[in-house]
This record gives sequence, C-alpha cells and structure tokens, in this order.
Amino acid sequence: MSYDLPGDASRALLQRGLPHLRNGIHYTRASQKSASKGYVPPAQFIVGRAEGDYVWDLDGNQYIDFQNGWATNPLGNCHPEILEAVHEAQRQYGFQWEHPLRIPLAERLASIMPSGSLPRFSFEVSGTEAAESAIHLALCHTQRRYIVSFTSCFHGEGLGTKMVSAYNSDNNLYMEGWAGGVLKAPFPYSEEIPAGMDQAQYTEYCLWYIETHLTEYVVPAENIAAILVEPGLAEGGNWIPSKAFMQGLRRICDKFDWLLIADEVLTGLGRTGTMWAVEHFDVVPDILVAGKNLSGGIEPCAGVAARDEILGDNPRATAGSTFAGTPGGCAAALKTLEIYERDAVLTHTQHLAGVAMQRMSDWESRYEIVSQVRGLGLLLGVSFRAGREDIEDFHIARSVRDEMLKRGLWAICDNEPQVRMYPALNMAEDVLLEGLSRMEEAIEAVQRSGGVTIGDYPPMPSGNVGF
Ligand SMILES: Cc1ncc(COP(=O)(O)O)c(C=O)c1O
Repeated sequence: MSYDLPGDASRALLQRGLPHLRNGIHYTRASQKSASKGYVPPAQFIVGRAEGDYVWDLDGNQYIDFQNGWATNPLGNCHPEILEAVHEAQRQYGFQWEHPLRIPLAERLASIMPSGSLPRFSFEVSGTEAAESAIHLALCHTQRRYIVSFTSCFHGEGLGTKMVSAYNSDNNLYMEGWAGGVLKAPFPYSEEIPAGMDQAQYTEYCLWYIETHLTEYVVPAENIAAILVEPGLAEGGNWIPSKAFMQGLRRICDKFDWLLIADEVLTGLGRTGTMWAVEHFDVVPDILVAGKNLSGGIEPCAGVAARDEILGDNPRATAGSTFAGTPGGCAAALKTLEIYERDAVLTHTQHLAGVAMQRMSDWESRYEIVSQVRGLGLLLGVSFRAGREDIEDFHIARSVRDEMLKRGLWAICDNEPQVRMYPALNMAEDVLLEGLSRMEEAIEAVQRSGGVTIGDYPPMPSGNVGF
C-alpha cells in the first residue's frame, strides 16, 4: 500500500480524463500555480470502492471517510438497507413520475419540519434546483424583486444559485448583469473580521447593514422578498452563526414582512446533531431547502418545504422537473428517515460531536498553525494560519489535508484556509477517534516542517478532479 498520491491506477485514469472533462485545463493551471509558488499541487485519487466509514482508492489504499461524498452520506457509504430500498423501488417502478412514494415522503417530511409549521414540500433533484426553486417561490409569493444573500455563502452552481452565492470576488464575473435582484450582505462569521471589532460587534454591524443600510440606501424594504441564509456556512468554511445573528435575521424579516429562507441542503437532516440546524437557534424559517442527506447517500432527492400559504396556493411559482422525486430518490429518503428513528441516529451524532470537540479541544493552544477549531454537531471545521509572510494560510490547510491523505484520512480543503470534516452521522466512535488522531499527526507534521511540504509528492498528472 502506498499513499504517494495519486497512485498508478488513479493517475492513469486522471490522465485519460484530461482532454475530455471540464476543467482539465483549469486544474492543470491550478497545479502549475501551486508549483510555481513552491507548493505541492493538491493530492488526488479516484474512489474504487466505498463501504461504511471507509473508501478505497483505485490503487487499493484505504481512507477513513470524513469527506462523506461532500456531506451526502448520512449513514455512511453504500448503506445496505438504503441500497435495497432503492433497488426495490427501481425494480417496481423503473422511472415513472406518478409513483406512490412521493406522498408518504411529503407526509413524513412535514412531520419532522421545525415546529411542524412547514407542511408542504416541492420536490427537486439537486440542492441547486431546490435553492433556485425557493428563491422563485419567495419572489412570486411576495410579488417583490430582491433577495438578500450573504458573502462567503454557497447555494449551488446553477445560474440563479451562482448569482446568490458569493464564494469569492470572481464568483459573479460576466454575470453581474444577471444578478440585479440580489443584495449581498456580509456574513459575520469568517476568517475576516474588520480590525478593531470583536465578533459580537461585527454581528451587530451585519444586522444593521441589512436592517438599515440596505433598506434606507439601496432598496426600499417593500421591494425585498426574502433573506436567504445557510444556518451554518458550509462550503464557505463550516462557520457557525450565533443565536443572536439568526434571531436577528428572523426579527428583521418579521419587521419588514420578508420571508426567511434557510438553505439546509448541507446542514439539514442531522448534520449538526439536530434534524435541522435552525433548531439550534430557536428560529423557524418560512421556507426550508433540503437535499444531500435526503438521498441517504444513494439516490438524489431534494426539495423545498414551506408554510402552507406559500406553497399551497402560489400558481406562478412553477417548479420540479422530470427527475424531481424519482421512485429511487423517495425510497432512499423514506428508508433513511426510518433508520434515523429506529436507530436513534441523532443521539449518536450528538455523542460523536461531543467526543470530536473534546478530542480537538487543545489544538488551538497546542499548534501555532491552528487558528480555530469549530463544530456544530458533525459540521466540523479547522482554520489554519501560516504565521509567516511568504506562505499563504491556504497552503497550510491544503498541506494538512494532504498529510491527512497520506495517513489514510480523507477530508475537504477547497480554496480556503480550512479543512472541513463531515463524518457520517452513524460513524463508529473508534473510527472517528482514529481519524482525529491521524489528523493531529498531520497537523504535527506540517507544523514541524514550518508549513513547507514541497517535494513530498511525486509530480502531479494535472488531473481534473479536485477536492
Ligand atoms: C448550502 C448548500 N446549498 C446548495 C447546494 C447545492 O446542492 P447540490 O450540489 O446538490 O446541487 C450546496 C452544495 O454543496 C450547499 O452546500
């Protein structure tokens, strides 16, 4: 077994994809850019097999899976009961739109929505479509034109969701004209807090920006339809908002008669230890967007839940698509929710979350390169810093993630100075602890090397699958 990544089989397949897959060139450039700065290009592999808490790459190397199909496999990889439920639905209905599983699933979802106040559900295939559908729903229901969304947020890669997302300043390039209905507000939790402000002051400022600045100087309040927020900034770095912020948003929405849309595509269905992240903040949204975990990690299923009057009688807000709520997707969701209840999965998740935070509790004080450890349930993030001018913080995070891979542990480091971890909600406790031990070893290795891990890897094939 060799963790010199990518291994031969992954490398050969990555090479084959270069001329054909999107971003082959982009990824080559990203690798060259890393190399030109003296950094190792991101390590890669292709999954050859996935089961439970583990994945194996094409070369047979085993990894503990904190990546979790981009936080999409709530009960681990290839859960056999969910697989069987999906196969059964597919054997029985193949693909028919008018199959009988959508209604029991909508009923079940209504019963688990926050405070039972979002009884209707509109099916979509992906989180992207569901977020776009929620926006459209809000515009049509309020008959207004503007949506407030946040910096650093991510809602998908469709045209509409690209416009409300604000990953970085390149995010809306060439689409500026299309994003006319979006008002971007600062999200108070990130690497950057303005100098001289503490977290509480900045949170207050961000609420003031929406309540006063936007409404008095940018767009009249009566033209704004909704605030769209992730109640746990996921792709933006697993940042966790405070109760004061989330309740502040609810108060502003109530004051101006705006809708509050919670995008729970990643935070929902147990990721944060409660069924929905909004429950941590005692906030009930008017519209809730769900996806990812609803698939049970097997078959796509997503959609939008809303208050009765928003989704019950809103003829202009058309939605859905051919594959919205497929038989397999609905069967996966129903079985997933059945297992959550039968096995008290969220109780286990809360226990694991406590174990993880306890295990990581001294990392900030022990390691200079660790600037913050944070978690809400199993939405876990660690921010890194270089502490020196010649190395970007992002490089430290990426190096730690690569050292983790070398030790058989997979987690996410995209373009930000963070490593994000999404263990399965039912992960075995000893596997979680083993993963965190490997992560700590990786942190120690990067800290020892002063953040310079150049030359540890063979040259990259400049593949096209980044993570
Ligand atoms: C909060 C949030 N919304 C929407 C999406 C888009 O979901 P999908 O990738 O299923 O289209 C994501 C994906 O990561 C997400 O994290």
